[in-house]
Amino acid sequence: MDMLEISHISKSFGDREVLRDVNLTVPKHAIYGFVGQNGAGKTTTMKLILGLLPANQGEIWVNGEKVSFGQNRTNQYIGYLPDVPEFYTFMTPAEYLDFCGAITGMEPHDCRKRTKELLSLVGLSQEKHRIKGFSRGMKQRLGIAQALLNRPKLLICDEPTSALDPVGRKEILDILTAAREQTTVLFSTHILSDVERICEKFAFLHEGKILCQGSMEEMKKNCKGAGFQMELEHKKDVKKLLQRFPEGIQQGKYGVAYQQGTKCQIEEVLLWMLREQISFHSIEKCSITLESLFLEVVGK
Ligand SMILES: Nc1ncnc2c1ncn2[C@@H]1O[C@H](COP(=O)(O)OP(=O)(O)OP(=O)(O)O)[C@@H](O)[C@H]1O
Ligand SMILES: [Mg+2]
Repeated sequence: MDMLEISHISKSFGDREVLRDVNLTVPKHAIYGFVGQNGAGKTTTMKLILGLLPANQGEIWVNGEKVSFGQNRTNQYIGYLPDVPEFYTFMTPAEYLDFCGAITGMEPHDCRKRTKELLSLVGLSQEKHRIKGFSRGMKQRLGIAQALLNRPKLLICDEPTSALDPVGRKEILDILTAAREQTTVLFSTHILSDVERICEKFAFLHEGKILCQGSMEEMKKNCKGAGFQMELEHKKDVKKLLQRFPEGIQQGKYGVAYQQGTKCQIEEVLLWMLREQISFHSIEKCSITLESLFLEVVGK
């Protein structure tokens, strides 16, 4: 059984359809990247998972139980970090987590133990200052600790790294990686390198539709984004090469790139170049990046 299953979900605000037939499955103990540009529908999807919005169509299942709008039964399995987390800033991190534990009915001894564990996980054990003096990165780290307090089976984080610098982002990604031992992680982002770093599976949401989903390996099979590129020595040879292999794309004065999936193969081009005595500075195979994949599937 998957931890999260979203089946044929559609959602409109008035006459504006913002999610269209969204299907997505997140296996247990995965770190799943939910990728999309601003306005793609990421936050709306998360609110539907939490039962905070009604869907127009479709079903969502969390840990095998169906989510119903306005009911919070399935939220017992979920820890949620919203895109802009709010805190009682006059509290210290330990006070805040104790407070959250108290209002969610945690047993005080267990709550203190868990608070200690989580502050250590997010690197705030030594932090005795009040939250009001915290940086954005510290607030995000505390937000993850709060979301993990009740030992959720599914941790949902809405753009946890978007407002952070590279160091802050790395800290959050390391925490999410460590959290995976205890939970399943679904996080949204538009930073593709973050997904490449820690997710084994991901989905691309674009204008309310899932364009593709799966692992990097699965995506690569269907992708024509990478091929090979070369830098020639003479400008006149660029023209000659493009006449013989017209699927190439000229890059600058001396460069030509061939996408994977085009008919010509690197070996064929190389043999022809040797025969024609065309000299080159470099020739290299390109690897598929998530960015090239994303641009390909959104058709840019
Ligand atoms: N309550 C609402 N009423 C009307 N339209 C809404 C509402 N909430 C979201 N939308 C619209 O739905 C679309 C998707 O919004 P959503 O916030 O889910 O996108 P997102 O992918 O989270 O974007 P971002 O990266 O900017 O956070 C947007 O066009 C937004 O304007
Ligand atoms: Mg959002």
